[in-house]
Amino acid sequence: MKYGFFDNDNREYVITRPDVPAPWTNYLGTEKFCTVISHNAGGYSFYNSPEYNRVTKFRPNASFDRPGHYVYLRDDETGDYWSISWQPVAKSLDEASYEIRHGLSYSTFKCEYNGITATKTLFVPKGEDAEVWDVVIKNTDNKPRTISAFSFVEFSFSHIQSDNQNHQMSLYSAGTEYRNGVIEYDLYYNTNDFEGFYYLASTFDPDSYDGQRDSFLGLYRDEANPIAVEQGQCSNSAQTCYNHCGSLHKQFVIQPGEEVRFAYILGMGKGNGEKLRAKYQDLANLDADFAGIKAHWDERCNKFQVKSPNEGLDTMINAWTLYQAETCVVWSRFASFIEVGGRTGLGYRDTAQDAISVPHANPSMTRKRLVDLLRGQVKAGYGLHLFDPDWFDPEKADVVPSKSPTVVPTPSDEDKIHGIEDTCSDDHLWLVPTICKYVMETGEESFFDEVIPYADGGNASVYDHMKAALDFSAEYVGNTGICKGLRADWNDCLNLGGGESSMVSFLHYWALQEFIDLAKHLGKTEDVDKYSTMAEGVRQACETHLWDDEGGWYIRGLTKNGDKIGTAQQTEGKIHLESNTLAVLSGAVSQERGERAMDSVDEHLYSPYGLHLNSPSFATPNDDIGFVTRVYQGVKENGAIFSHPNPWAWVAEAKLGRGNQAMKFYDSLNPYNQNDMIETRIAEPYSYVQFIMGRDHQDHGRANHPWLTGTSGWAYFSVTNFILGVRTGFEGLTVDPCIPTAWPSFDVTRQWRGATYNITVQNPNNVSKGVHSITVNGEAIEGAIPVQAEGSINDIIVILG
Ligand code: GLC
Repeated sequence: MKYGFFDNDNREYVITRPDVPAPWTNYLGTEKFCTVISHNAGGYSFYNSPEYNRVTKFRPNASFDRPGHYVYLRDDETGDYWSISWQPVAKSLDEASYEIRHGLSYSTFKCEYNGITATKTLFVPKGEDAEVWDVVIKNTDNKPRTISAFSFVEFSFSHIQSDNQNHQMSLYSAGTEYRNGVIEYDLYYNTNDFEGFYYLASTFDPDSYDGQRDSFLGLYRDEANPIAVEQGQCSNSAQTCYNHCGSLHKQFVIQPGEEVRFAYILGMGKGNGEKLRAKYQDLANLDADFAGIKAHWDERCNKFQVKSPNEGLDTMINAWTLYQAETCVVWSRFASFIEVGGRTGLGYRDTAQDAISVPHANPSMTRKRLVDLLRGQVKAGYGLHLFDPDWFDPEKADVVPSKSPTVVPTPSDEDKIHGIEDTCSDDHLWLVPTICKYVMETGEESFFDEVIPYADGGNASVYDHMKAALDFSAEYVGNTGICKGLRADWNDCLNLGGGESSMVSFLHYWALQEFIDLAKHLGKTEDVDKYSTMAEGVRQACETHLWDDEGGWYIRGLTKNGDKIGTAQQTEGKIHLESNTLAVLSGAVSQERGERAMDSVDEHLYSPYGLHLNSPSFATPNDDIGFVTRVYQGVKENGAIFSHPNPWAWVAEAKLGRGNQAMKFYDSLNPYNQNDMIETRIAEPYSYVQFIMGRDHQDHGRANHPWLTGTSGWAYFSVTNFILGVRTGFEGLTVDPCIPTAWPSFDVTRQWRGATYNITVQNPNNVSKGVHSITVNGEAIEGAIPVQAEGSINDIIVILG
């Protein structure tokens, strides 16, 4: 069953039936003002931090995606009313038709009902701390119509904690005022005039307004049947205390065939309501700002465009996967309909991985995140698993936290910096390849020399920070020489403590390879020698202790008692995805063992929805292995299709040269391919999700936790760099694809360091891998394509075979 389609020309997903089985969400905002919005216009806005600057309220885990950012329309001759988004009024789909277009950083809601066609486009203009609603109401009837429009948002008490825990104080310290077409919402304790000061404005002169939520909704009613809309008039409420909303009402008489267009503006900062109200009275400003959002994403997407025989791959890589990856880089794991703002810290490993995917599209944000992460690393080399980048930002250190009754907690140094017992054994290692990729993209080699403080004091160059990370993992090893598991490794629920993690040793090996290449490039011979010796030790330990010959795969690790996890002898948690994919991805293992391991992955972990994380799932609690053994079977880390490591398998297969397998695994996880099976998938088909129920769960195939997952960054990185094989290096651009044998050719346009590379890859002999020849502007070359002059447009022809 499907509910919509991809409109690739516009980079939009179009929902044609609004009764989708779950809220399908989108992100608005490219800077600090952000809204997470569903296809029903349910959702919430925040400024910079969903924990401490919530602009509008949201009720997480309620059965509806409410409240939201709504426009109600009322036929003032009959009293009939509806909303431009299907919810909250929810007209019968027999009488009204709805279409929702989720685009990159905007969403358009359209409703056709009883002779009126109305649209509402929500976006956050660049340079403004506000969300604009561009509303058009057209009379398609053959008689004049009298239509009232009402906005509705429910203002938040600013802090998420206030919403949930300290409700009482907030009830008596917030208030609304109405002034010149603007409802202003202020928190009495807010002295900042900016944060905690929100407004809802309109470009029209309102006929009536409500700032008090309960006046607008009425007693024993909700967003589906507000009394103000039912009666055709707000009660002009605005005062201190209780709960607050922004409703501005205007009646329009619209002639047949005519339309009215106006804007609502939801924003923050004193004085901004009047300013933006005036700005958008000139509709040309509305158009120009919307064009700015389109241009923002055109510029980013155009850095890498592909045209291949796989339409689903093209659709996702050319827009959606990049868009999702950047959303993760910006918002880490803290604002979605699942993660609703209870924490704002960066997940160390998550951000370190996400950032590898967008250095071309958003180099400045990538750089900022790298600096944030380096400041969150301690001298011993490990990363602080969860931290707020503001804690270690010298520019923020003196800023007095908000003077609200629910003060933003400023943790003590002890609370900020955890010890080894809370350390995750993988966090710091992801930094190494990500930093290398950033410099390969930008050419900013001086970044390696930049001196950045450690979280617990002292300074080091970026290069030395990287060494500290590698040295930490060399030191914290168990009896066999395999890295210790510590609190967890990439798998949050594998809590090995003093046990050993093969996943981390393979990751260590990968990070070492990237670092050795860097040291060679920088001519640091001593480091090349030292870290090559370290890498060889890691490789030998892995090959000696981790191979399970009976199964034909690499085990997942050892408990602190030395028991192996993930062998052919076991009946639960027999084979795992992370160890086998990283074994091959890292380059640590031979072709023969690599092929056997990936064949085992195919045999035991493959499903039409993607690769399972482990199989069979654990059914017996075992605290030496960790919490994973206590998670329900087939769910999350216990035997679900955990999406994030799936792309590691695509890289592994690409490195083995098996393009058909790489594409089989890619296609199985690609949400695009599940567009017509929404009755199983449930979640939106334009977003990767954290996990899909595994075969040991009755909802096998159901996709959960869209948007904020490391899958997007890894999917983007794996496809662009290893399947399509277009990889930046310190000195040149490599084109080394691994594709299905059936692909006759594909094209990539890549912008890199100011030049454009129009790459055509031809596959006359139906191979997967192996470059036969390469020409740059008609001249044959060997190896990597040298950096071309800024502004140049270059034709590259690559023949495989
Ligand atoms: C979640 C976490 C991520 C972790 C993964 C597996 O996605 O955000 O850090 O690696 O779960 O446990």
